[in-house]
Amino acid sequence: MPKSIPHGGTLINKKEIGMDTSSITHSIPLDETALSDLELIANGAFSPLTGFLNEADYQSVVENTRLADGTVWSIPITLPVEDEFAANLQPGEKALLTFDGKTYGVIEIEQVYSPDKEKEAENVYRTTDSEHPGVKKVYDRPALYVAGEITQVEEIVHPQFDTYYLDPSETRAEFDKRKWETVVGFQTRNPVHRAHEYIQKTALETVDGLFLNPLVGATKSDDIPADVRMKSYEVLLKDYYPEDRTYLAVFPAAMRYAGPREAIFHAMVRKNYGCTHFIVGRDHAGVADYYGTYDAQHIFKNFTEEELGIKPLFFEHSFYCKKCENMASAKTCPHDKEDHVILSGTKVRAMLKNGDMPPAEFSRPEVVAVLIEGMQEPAPK
Ligand code: ADX
Repeated sequence: MPKSIPHGGTLINKKEIGMDTSSITHSIPLDETALSDLELIANGAFSPLTGFLNEADYQSVVENTRLADGTVWSIPITLPVEDEFAANLQPGEKALLTFDGKTYGVIEIEQVYSPDKEKEAENVYRTTDSEHPGVKKVYDRPALYVAGEITQVEEIVHPQFDTYYLDPSETRAEFDKRKWETVVGFQTRNPVHRAHEYIQKTALETVDGLFLNPLVGATKSDDIPADVRMKSYEVLLKDYYPEDRTYLAVFPAAMRYAGPREAIFHAMVRKNYGCTHFIVGRDHAGVADYYGTYDAQHIFKNFTEEELGIKPLFFEHSFYCKKCENMASAKTCPHDKEDHVILSGTKVRAMLKNGDMPPAEFSRPEVVAVLIEGMQEPAPK
């Protein structure tokens, strides 16, 4: 396996911190997702993107899961803007990109266009149901998309777990320093449980390093908060993972819950961070029953190994089996369902809220303690 080459061939860098923006009069307010997209375009995590998608690329991504030039790309990275801000923007002009009144970036306007959001939902999310959290977000955001190259002009400060924010050039340098030729990336938006640990360590048996990359951008309100999830990783790494073979950094992106399409996106982005392999388990990036358990694995068949440039490692639904006295999956365990310790996310959240411990076969007690503490409602004042 050759070392990982950034998607599209070159790691993009669109940061010019401190750039003079005083002559720019237009400005566009970003929401939390757009701010994280700006950050991830600028630091190269979304290479080869250099800005928010134009209409040709957008339509091509929606219809063909590729940019207009044929490069694999599965999630439209767009900048939805309210009419009042979009109305006066002319191609070639620049606009400030602001969040909470502060300027973080500049966009050079290429065009303003009206997307077909139903088609976007149908093709990218495989449903037009506005109950789907990703589709709801698409529908709720403004109706016009602004396209153009961006520059990040101000550092985005992350008060929480700042030391875990690394640009792809930094994670690549870290992997080089550790002499890791092969690195497996792990995406997650949940606290770490035994099945996660099992598939991570099984993958690590065959590669040099494990890159744990929890997503900490916007998630739906009932997902466990990012700080609790990060703490669950810290306590686990301390005692159960080899330090010289494991590396933890956050992925600042928003969660789309787009299942198969998002699995491809997650893989491309981890390639940019320097991974050669990527874990795709059961219902990757799924939500409720919108996707089949292994749809996010099947979609990889639509692309050649060369155009993906990162090797997906597929895992069956894993669990603890009381008869095997071990972690296992349907592939490796001959016993009945009754012997398997399987808990749904909803059930676990309910247990934690009540202060009940999920069994040690499901989650290590150290992690459960962090979760129970993090999930308790604040005491009434
Ligand atoms: S995700 O939305 O980020 O995919 P989650 O954090 O639960 O959600 O999953 C992280 C990764 O672990 C995904 O690749 C997912 O498919 C995989 N995974 C989660 N639970 C299991 C399990 N019990 N068995 C196998 N793979 C799993």
